[in-house]
Amino acid sequence: MSEHHSGILSGKIAVVTGAARGIGRAVALRLASLGADIVLLDINLSAAKSMDEVLSHDSVAAEVEAFGVSCLALEVDLTDARAVARAFATIGEQFPGIDIVVNCAGGLITATDRGSAAEVSSQDIDTLLSINLRTTINVCQNAIPLMKARESASIINISSLSGQLSYASGKNAAYGFSKAALDSYSRSLAVELGPDGIRVNTVAPGLITTSRVVKQAASRGIGSAAEAAHVPLRRLGRPDDIADAVEFFAGPLSSFITGETLAVCGGSKLSVGTTRS
Ligand SMILES: NC(=O)c1ccc[n+]([C@@H]2O[C@H](COP(=O)([O-])OP(=O)(O)OC[C@H]3O[C@@H](n4cnc5c(N)ncnc54)[C@H](O)[C@@H]3O)[C@@H](O)[C@H]2O)c1
Repeated sequence: MSEHHSGILSGKIAVVTGAARGIGRAVALRLASLGADIVLLDINLSAAKSMDEVLSHDSVAAEVEAFGVSCLALEVDLTDARAVARAFATIGEQFPGIDIVVNCAGGLITATDRGSAAEVSSQDIDTLLSINLRTTINVCQNAIPLMKARESASIINISSLSGQLSYASGKNAAYGFSKAALDSYSRSLAVELGPDGIRVNTVAPGLITTSRVVKQAASRGIGSAAEAAHVPLRRLGRPDDIADAVEFFAGPLSSFITGETLAVCGGSKLSVGTTRS
């Protein structure tokens, strides 16, 4: 159990959304490795399977527990405000508060050839705002009372370079404005919650080779060696690159930093015509 763990986050309680695979899973395992007790939230706790993502144990919860910390895993659609409230009631019964929240649930889940600013449909706008913005608002609003009970706390929202850049293809415009809205929401929260000792920052990944990206690479025309060759650091991102940034924002090294967005993209943000995540 966590009281026997000596990591820098031991005694902390971290909620990670979208934790069943990809970036969320990498983040959950990192925070567990540092000693935090973990709450996993995902609409499908077996989501790794559909992308052939290989787990080291039977479930992500078992992987977390292998670090000697405790884990609560709840299956919940985070776009559903009532379901999120129920999930946080359960969390509040089992834990004395929340120190760290990492919102990873999200993504470009509409067809990429329908995302242009000039033509995107109302339905796709609703879908993207719902999964990239609404989920995080629901989680933050329910987590904040439990975070205020702690001495200090940190919220980290996973955004995207698309929130800051527009790509010539125009395909990611709607995903981009959903992530820009997430960045803006996070800055407002940072100002509101600073007096309570709660910091709020976002991480903006470039293209990350998650199991989903690898599986969809060919059909979406992303993740090629040619694309990596355009990144100043000459490689695409890995889920652990995002876990590194989350570790920084979750821990004491960022204790005077709030309301920031950190790009984690190998420099592709600076270089025209590279990744489009
Ligand atoms: N992979 C990349 O290249 C990349 C780049 C930039 C930003 N991002 C962002 O990083 C985050 C994670 O991306 P990923 O590549 O790991 O995605 P992923 O699709 O592999 O994982 C997303 C997880 O969120 C869960 N989820 C989806 N909808 C949900 C809902 N309504 N409620 C609860 N859980 C839900 C899924 O089941 C899945 O486990 C997303 O916000 C994405 O926009 C990813």
